[in-house]
Amino acid sequence: MSSGMRTYGTGRRYVSKDNAIWASLDESPQALHILDTNVTNNELNKHASSFSIEIGKKASCVKKSEDESVKLLPKAADKTEERHKKSNSHLVPTIIVPSHGRNIAKTSDSDVNTSITESKMTENLNAGLQNRPQRKSTQLSYLLGLVDQQIPISFRDYIKTFKSSIYKIGEASYSEVFKVEKDEPIVLKIMPFGKENQIRCSDIINELKITKRLSSLEGYVDLQEAVIVKGTYPSILIKEWDRYDRQKESENERPDFFHSSQLFCILCLSHGGTDLEHLELSDWFETWNIFLKAAKALATGERKFEFEHRDMHWGNILIKRRNDEDLSYLLDEVSFDEFEDSNTSFPVSERSFTADSLEITLIDFTLARMRHTGSSSPIFNEFDDPELFSGRGDYQFDIYRLMAKVTKGQWGEYFPKTNILWLHYLLYQLLYKKTIPKPRDLREQQLKERLTKLFKLLEPVRRPHKGSCPLQNCAFPSAASLDEWINQQYDD
Ligand SMILES: Nc1ncnc2c1ncn2[C@@H]1O[C@H](COP(=O)(O)OP(=O)(O)O)[C@@H](O)[C@H]1O
Ligand SMILES: [Mg+2]
Repeated sequence: MSSGMRTYGTGRRYVSKDNAIWASLDESPQALHILDTNVTNNELNKHASSFSIEIGKKASCVKKSEDESVKLLPKAADKTEERHKKSNSHLVPTIIVPSHGRNIAKTSDSDVNTSITESKMTENLNAGLQNRPQRKSTQLSYLLGLVDQQIPISFRDYIKTFKSSIYKIGEASYSEVFKVEKDEPIVLKIMPFGKENQIRCSDIINELKITKRLSSLEGYVDLQEAVIVKGTYPSILIKEWDRYDRQKESENERPDFFHSSQLFCILCLSHGGTDLEHLELSDWFETWNIFLKAAKALATGERKFEFEHRDMHWGNILIKRRNDEDLSYLLDEVSFDEFEDSNTSFPVSERSFTADSLEITLIDFTLARMRHTGSSSPIFNEFDDPELFSGRGDYQFDIYRLMAKVTKGQWGEYFPKTNILWLHYLLYQLLYKKTIPKPRDLREQQLKERLTKLFKLLEPVRRPHKGSCPLQNCAFPSAASLDEWINQQYDD
């Protein structure tokens, strides 16, 4: 369990347990201080079509609401109750949402009908799913069609097909994540859907489609398989859940309450390593490479699919270092002189291997936006959960508000600037939230300076004029343009 902020999953990501975050506000980017809103629910309705955001409160007001948030953080004794609530009732909506915006997960138990009416639908259905109410059974049929199933299969039977050990490795408000130990380990992201307080079927469809489409791209998680299962939670997973709870204290409810009619979507993903939040960074080579590779991955996504991640916080960036065995072939090719050719205690060549051997993988496309090549309808999330815009205490939360300004609520349109916002967030986390050893030589110092320079270049403006884009002065309209600039600027 993270000692810091819960950043995984809608509803969770807005709560911080990390008092250090509140104490560190002064070092935060300007956006953290100035972006706040005083929009009430009434105003939400009144201005429903305008999508504008009121900006006004000063840092002092921000501090106050943050303090209130801290007070309201659950104590251990309240945890069970909190698990049931799964909402941040103390947070007020701060953005005007479109009038056609739907409420999140307001379906009743009987809403999801497992009968099959159609096996496959047209691509255009996605646009329909976004904009008008669809019968849940139709959505379910479409989802089943996407995974080549006629009907949901038994959850227990499906889990039994894995002969190797299974460990729980992560959790979010609406999902549990397990790892299956094999030569090539796989990750099972298990998402109950379709009932009250669960993910909407349409959101599962979007995440699945985007994950599938990006699967073959460098820097994106590989989807090996997706299945729709039905039934109670298998005991082997409950056991694992208990073990995780004992060791790391889960914030979720023990998943033994699901009814036999419960549906789950399971994404079987390749294992992408450790998320950036939980990874210790060893030097500035590594730090530079994480930023560079994240920017490149976003640039590739933009070029191919008009992709915007829209939720690239550090829990959604996985890092894998190649192990020593994988590196040995590289070491074979290096002459001994190269190792000697260094006046530092750590040979230059060896350190550059560390950087080169790093792989990054972007995950979690719950809020992402993309458009299939040749298709006119984009896949996107409507950002119709007001809580998304009311989080406090971390730059991540400002990014959702900044994105709303960039997109003006037109979430289906293409705004690659949102990728620049997340890259700015990433630079902030790397420069100010990670403890990285001081540069040990000139090369490392240069890489740190590069990152600092980029942090300034990508900064959203302090106080955008009403209706203006916070990134209007930023030289980079997209991750692709930033990638090109980096390639020209730095030839290494
Ligand atoms: N493919 C993967 N490889 C390794 N860890 C993963 C993988 N997918 C998810 N995780 C872990 O599980 C956490 C939650 O997964 P994520 O897909 O972000 O779920 P959510 O949409 O609920 O936030 C991640 O932050 C990460 O720690
Ligand atoms: Mg996540």
